[in-house]
Amino acid sequence: MNQKAHWEQVYTTRPADQVGWFKTHLQTSLNWIKNLELPKDSPIIDIGGGASTLVDDLVDAGYQALTILDISEKALSLAKLRLGDKADQANWISGDITTIDLPEHHFDVWHDRAVFHFLTEPDHQLQYQKNLMHALKPGGHLIIGTFSPEAPPKCSGLPVQRYEPEQLVNFLSNDFELKKHHKELHVTPGGVEQMYLYCHFARNV
Ligand SMILES: C[S@@+](CC[C@H](N)C(=O)[O-])C[C@H]1O[C@@H](n2cnc3c(N)ncnc32)[C@H](O)[C@@H]1O
Repeated sequence: MNQKAHWEQVYTTRPADQVGWFKTHLQTSLNWIKNLELPKDSPIIDIGGGASTLVDDLVDAGYQALTILDISEKALSLAKLRLGDKADQANWISGDITTIDLPEHHFDVWHDRAVFHFLTEPDHQLQYQKNLMHALKPGGHLIIGTFSPEAPPKCSGLPVQRYEPEQLVNFLSNDFELKKHHKELHVTPGGVEQMYLYCHFARNV
């Protein structure tokens, strides 16, 4: 099964609040974005936003230039359905982050929770990095959450690459400065413990 088919099947067969990565609110992501104190019309993209409620919370906080990208059309349709009229306040893109064309140096914030870690092939990681460098403004912010080494080796039944901050620093080379990081224990709706690593990087100008 290819990646898109996997994710379409997940979101078609399981309630959005029963998937392993579900949280009522992505509080760390939300707090870290708010703490940047950017103007509310700053473009923000959520990579692999899926059906998560981060978009709801960002709309409610007044952010006006939100883009939610996901490989699964079903995930995006679930989020839009939940948002109702408020769905018009975000831009929705269905596509694969390793191949999609995004506008150049457009986004002030690139948020990714539990998406990059699925890219276990160096080629795919490099394509992701290329898109990140293309679409994020110099001076922009990368807020990324991945499994850390204490977490299981699979997420949603797929193998993942688990990271310590140093590995992400090495991957991003000299283009970014690590501003902060922390580990956070997530317990899935089924009771499985997964340690996440969250990092905030600022892109050098
Ligand atoms: C583990 S879920 C995390 C969802 C959301 N970020 C959250 O934290 O609740 C991974 C999400 O990434 C999406 N995804 C997986 N591979 C992708 C890719 N190559 N490009 C874009 N989205 C992808 C999936 O459809 C899914 O919604």
